[in-house]
Amino acid sequence: MADVSLRNIHKSFGQNEVIHGISCDIHDGEFIVILGPSGCGKSTVLRMIAGLEVITKGELTIDDKVVNQLEPADRDIAMVFQNYALYPHMTVFKNMAYGLKIRRMPKAEIEKRVQKAAGILELTEFLNRKPRQLSGGQRQRVAMGRCIVREPKVFLFDEPLSNLDAKLRVQMRQELRNLHETLGITSVYVTHDQVEAMTLGDRLIVMENGYVEQIGSPLDVYEKPATHFVAGFIGSPAMNFFEARTSRDGQSAQLSDTETLPIHPQLDPSFRDQAIVLGIRPEHFKLAAERDGTMQMRVENLETLGADTLVHGKSAGNKTIFTVRLPDIHRYPKGSTLSLSISPEKLHLFDKESGKRIGA
Ligand SMILES: Nc1ncnc2c1ncn2[C@@H]1O[C@H](COP(=O)(O)OP(=O)(O)O)[C@@H](O)[C@H]1O
Ligand SMILES: [Mg+2]
Repeated sequence: MADVSLRNIHKSFGQNEVIHGISCDIHDGEFIVILGPSGCGKSTVLRMIAGLEVITKGELTIDDKVVNQLEPADRDIAMVFQNYALYPHMTVFKNMAYGLKIRRMPKAEIEKRVQKAAGILELTEFLNRKPRQLSGGQRQRVAMGRCIVREPKVFLFDEPLSNLDAKLRVQMRQELRNLHETLGITSVYVTHDQVEAMTLGDRLIVMENGYVEQIGSPLDVYEKPATHFVAGFIGSPAMNFFEARTSRDGQSAQLSDTETLPIHPQLDPSFRDQAIVLGIRPEHFKLAAERDGTMQMRVENLETLGADTLVHGKSAGNKTIFTVRLPDIHRYPKGSTLSLSISPEKLHLFDKESGKRIGA
C-alpha cells in the first residue's frame, strides 16, 4: 500500500504539450478515478505513473520517494488494460502464475498467492481451464488475478471494462469495488464513463484537454461542479444551460423579461450585473401551481423511462430547449405549458467567459 503524489506533472510529445500540469495527493488505500472525454490525457497520466512514459516536467512520488527515473518493473505497480491479453494456451492457474514465475518466485509461494487470489476472485474451480472456456467476466477476473498475485503497492486500471457488454459492466463494477474494499490497495482508475466514475471512485479527477477541471468526491462534483465543463459532463441526462444575467443587487438571475430566478446566498459585488451561464439539472425542477412557477416550458417531446419521464421543451421567455425529469407521464401532453419552480440552492452559476463557477 502506498501514497502517490503527482506534483505539477507535464507531458509533451515533441513540441506538443498534452498534459499541462496536474497535481494530486492520492492517499494510501484510496480509489481515485481519472474521468474525462476521449483524448483528454487520461491514459498518458496513468502511463506516466506506471513508468511507461517519461515525465516531461514535475515530480511523481510513491511514499515520498521521487520515482520519475525508476523503471516500471521497480515501481511495484500493476496495471490492468482494456485489452487484457491472456495467454490462450495456458490454464488460468498458469496465466496468473506467469508473472511470478519469471520473477523466479519459489513455487510454494506462487501456489499460495494464486490460490489466495483465485479465492478472492471466485476462480478456484476454473484454475485448470483455458481462457476460451471462460466467460468474458471470468476472463476479466483472471486479468485482475494476474495483478493481485503480485501484491503491488498500487493498481492502475485503464478503462478495463469498456470491452464488456452493459450488464457485465455493472456487475464487474461492483466486483471491482468489493475487491478494493477487501484488498485496500491504492488504485488509480481511468474511464470516460461518468457512471463508472461516480460509483467506483472515492474521489474523481475530472480532466479536459490536458487540464484538471476539478478534484473531489463524486458528490462534490455533482453538487458543486467547479466549471461549466464539469457540470455538463457529470449527470445524466446532462445539466441544462441557459444564457442569463445576474441582477445589480446580486439576488437574482434574469433569463428573459419574464423569467427571473432568485439566487441564494446573495452574490458578491464582483459577480453582479454580468453575463453568466445558468445551470439547472433536469431532476431539480418541480411542477408548480400555474402562477407560482418561475419558468414556463412549452412541452415538445416526452421520453418515458418507467419510473419517471423526461420532458423536453422550450422555455417560454428564454427560448432555450431544456429537459425536465418528472414523475408520472400522464400530465404532460405535447403542446401544453408546464409551470416549473427551482430552489435557489439548486442553481449553478458559471462565468460566461472563463466557465468557472461563481457564487456558493
Ligand atoms: N505516443 C504519443 N505520441 C504523440 N501524441 C500522443 C501519444 N500518446 C498520446 N498522444 C496524444 O495525447 C493526447 C492524450 O491522449 P490519451 O492520454 O491517450 O487520452 P485519453 O486516454 O484521455 O483518451 C491526445 O491528443 C493524443 O493524441
Ligand atoms: Mg485512454
